[in-house]
Amino acid sequence: MILVTGSAGFIGSNFVLDWCAQHDEPVVNLDKLTYAGNLENLATLKDNPRHIFVQGDIGDAALVGRLLAEHQPRAVVNFAAESHVDRSIHGPEDFIQTNVVGTFHLLEAVRAYWGGLEGDRKADFRFLHVSTDEVYGSLGRDDPAFTETHRYEPNSPYSASKAASDHLVRAYHHTYGLPVLTTNCSNNYGPYHFPEKLIPLLIVNALAGKALPVYGDGQQIRDWLYVKDHCSAIRCVLEKGRTGEVYNVGGWNEKANLDIVHTVCGLLDELRPRADGKPYSEQIRFVTDRPGHDRRYAIDARKIERELGWKPAETFETGIRKTVHWYLDNQDWVSNVLSGNYRQWVEKNYAGRTE
Ligand code: NAD
Ligand code: DAU
Repeated sequence: MILVTGSAGFIGSNFVLDWCAQHDEPVVNLDKLTYAGNLENLATLKDNPRHIFVQGDIGDAALVGRLLAEHQPRAVVNFAAESHVDRSIHGPEDFIQTNVVGTFHLLEAVRAYWGGLEGDRKADFRFLHVSTDEVYGSLGRDDPAFTETHRYEPNSPYSASKAASDHLVRAYHHTYGLPVLTTNCSNNYGPYHFPEKLIPLLIVNALAGKALPVYGDGQQIRDWLYVKDHCSAIRCVLEKGRTGEVYNVGGWNEKANLDIVHTVCGLLDELRPRADGKPYSEQIRFVTDRPGHDRRYAIDARKIERELGWKPAETFETGIRKTVHWYLDNQDWVSNVLSGNYRQWVEKNYAGRTE
């Protein structure tokens, strides 16, 4: 069995859904259910005896210790984190608490458990830490893409907190020999993506007739990876990765934000045209930029392909079409996440931005 943390969130829930569809191996799912955690993402697993959900904090070492002792997992996959850059700018403390202090307590509990294992069970145990390309900082237009040896230069409270957690994971390998693996991935998109993030926000706002807010000049570049491809990369690293190693994961899909906005508008024009026949791009509004906004991320994903044979299955064109379809087909999921809490966040993040 494996223990997965943060798996009621966007990527974690996709990972657990795929895992249960492809494996007989049971999963214990530990999630605090913050605003970003949503049990509706896991609704299809409700009666699955191979999936056990536990509400709790990765920073609760006693709880994690009990779960490890009871379920004896062969691996821990750590998705749990505060993940939204804009929220980290408005309030960094939760990011330090979960991403840094929480990861530390989780590592301590896992170290104690792993220290008590013997023989093959000890040798085969893995702690996989899911991290981000944002720890590497921002690239110039012509700079080569991030490799695994790129210097850490985090620029937001979010990326700094993820960088700190990566360093702790690394230190637990070097100091205690804990068999860790770290993945640093680019921007994901796909089903169950919370609409505080760019792509689902665009779809939700477009359909509601609201503004499509583009920060600054919209020329910031991100690499985009369909979430199911990220999940397959994590499974691949878990099975074949060399302990102590870092693997960059990316989609070879560098896009400027404004191009993403136009692609989403174009798909909606085709699949759900506006009642007045006008294009959704009429709703685009350029708004005040994100403070400290990183200009460009790009991932060099050759190591994971060369060493482990992983490659993304989706192109951006196929993945974004699937994603727009998913949101159109899952309007109940969308309306359930647009709670009062969500509306407060939208007010906080966008009200002060001038056009
Ligand atoms: P998310 O915000 O959608 O989900 C995070 C989940 O973690 C939620 O279910 C939340 O309830 C849970 N959680 C938060 N604090 C917790 C705590 N203290 N204890 C237990 N659970 C807690 O995030 P996501 O986009 O799914 O990202 C998952 C991981 O992948 C994060 O570590 C993130 O840094 C990393 N990552 C994300 C992306 C991306 O594009 N979304 C890209 C690369 C890496
Ligand atoms: O690169 C990986 C990271 O990708 C992950 O580590 C983070 O957890 C994840 O949230 C994501 O971070 P970004 O900041 O890149 O994602 P976000 O969707 O918030 O923004 C994508 C780009 O779009 C970014 O350049 C900011 C811009 N943006 C975002 C929003 C929400 C806008 O222009 N308007 C918006 O309203």
